[in-house]
Amino acid sequence: MTPTSRPVSRRGLLTGGALAAGGTVVGAAAVATTRGEPAGRPPERPPTAGVGEAVEPFHGVRQAGIATEPQAHAAFVAFTLRPGTDRGALGRLLRLLSDDAARLTQGRPALADTEPELGLLPARLTVTFGFGPGLFTAAGLDDRRPPSVVDLPAFPIDRLQPRWSGGDLLVQLCADDPLTVAHAQRVLVKDTRPFATVRWVQQGFRRAAGAEPGRTQRNLFSQLDGTANPKPGTPVETAVWIADGPDWLRDGTTLVVRRISMNLETWDLLGRTDRELAVGRRLDSGAPLTGTREHDEPDFAALGPDGLTVISDFSHLTRAHVTDDRFRILRRPYNYDGVPAADGTADSGLIFAAYQADIATQFLPIQRRLAERDLLNEWTTPIGSAVFAVPPGCPEGGWVGQQLLD
Ligand code: HEM
Repeated sequence: MTPTSRPVSRRGLLTGGALAAGGTVVGAAAVATTRGEPAGRPPERPPTAGVGEAVEPFHGVRQAGIATEPQAHAAFVAFTLRPGTDRGALGRLLRLLSDDAARLTQGRPALADTEPELGLLPARLTVTFGFGPGLFTAAGLDDRRPPSVVDLPAFPIDRLQPRWSGGDLLVQLCADDPLTVAHAQRVLVKDTRPFATVRWVQQGFRRAAGAEPGRTQRNLFSQLDGTANPKPGTPVETAVWIADGPDWLRDGTTLVVRRISMNLETWDLLGRTDRELAVGRRLDSGAPLTGTREHDEPDFAALGPDGLTVISDFSHLTRAHVTDDRFRILRRPYNYDGVPAADGTADSGLIFAAYQADIATQFLPIQRRLAERDLLNEWTTPIGSAVFAVPPGCPEGGWVGQQLLD
């Protein structure tokens, strides 16, 4: 159980005993009576909560949902702005979205929540907003768009589908409970209706909350995925957060979302050794093929008895490896597993979400090397692609994007 979570009994709630259980309970009741909602009893918090009660902050210098320890479930929702949604309208929209996100992330129903009971379990909900290239054009602010926030160049490995690509506005929702994600998604989609239409939704998952605390997650190829990520609080963080860009973007970042289909059927045909060679790491421990533990440094020069490098020059590890900390990226991927085809063929893959201060100097060189030669390409295919500027967070009373749009 997390420090912010503690079971709350219904009886305790009714008798005021829940006061001791943390501010969120008090907040829920207070909000329900001060927001001008229909009179009546505020929705009751469920008798026990555990994972459901844990809260991530919404307000702050940086948006949550990036350095946040990844939650178990995610929905990435991209919108196309309606004609006429200009700078003023965008300001109104972001004010509304920020207000409802602030409430829901703290376990309080949204302003006009039609299902207020579903807003009571935050389950570490985070809501992160991103601005696609089209938003800058709609706002008449093309000159303030970070130059690398444009559609990525086409790569020979790409088989991009419009239904998974592009987007003017992104709302990334993550929580440890799928119902919390679904409810927040619905509320925020309703908020956008006068201003935008849904372009695509990508839903993903990782291990359940608490199933493997502190462990690197596994993807559907069973690989440990995320080992070499910059860790929060380390100097490498400067690779993620914008420190000296334009004022409105300071403490923001950029996001690339790639939907990458993984061919489980042909991967199944590979032996374990070949699977490990493709990445350059062991499947059980995640250790590089030249080491024994997950975080051992890979030795790319080590030779095997056959005179070839132990870690193949074409392995994903070799091709993706970045030696200069300033050029690393933060990967925060989610698995997806759609409905299989009629013959049972899986529709599986990775919602590959990467954060970096600058797409051109950090993400693109890696992607170019992978597109040129990477053994994993045999089993993976990018089918969607989108890029966003991620503005900084906002203080209480403020809204995300205010520095750009106000
Ligand atoms: C379905 C597609 C992909 C799969 C299954 C996959 C899997 C993996 C695995 C298993 C690792 C080794 C462990 C780790 O450090 O996380 C890794 C490392 C890495 N991947 Fe991927 N990856 C995919 C796509 C991509 C893409 C599109 C990029 C960027 C354009 C990328 C960038 C990286 C980087 C930077 C590393 C760390 C390399 C290092 O410095 O050690 N990956 N990936």
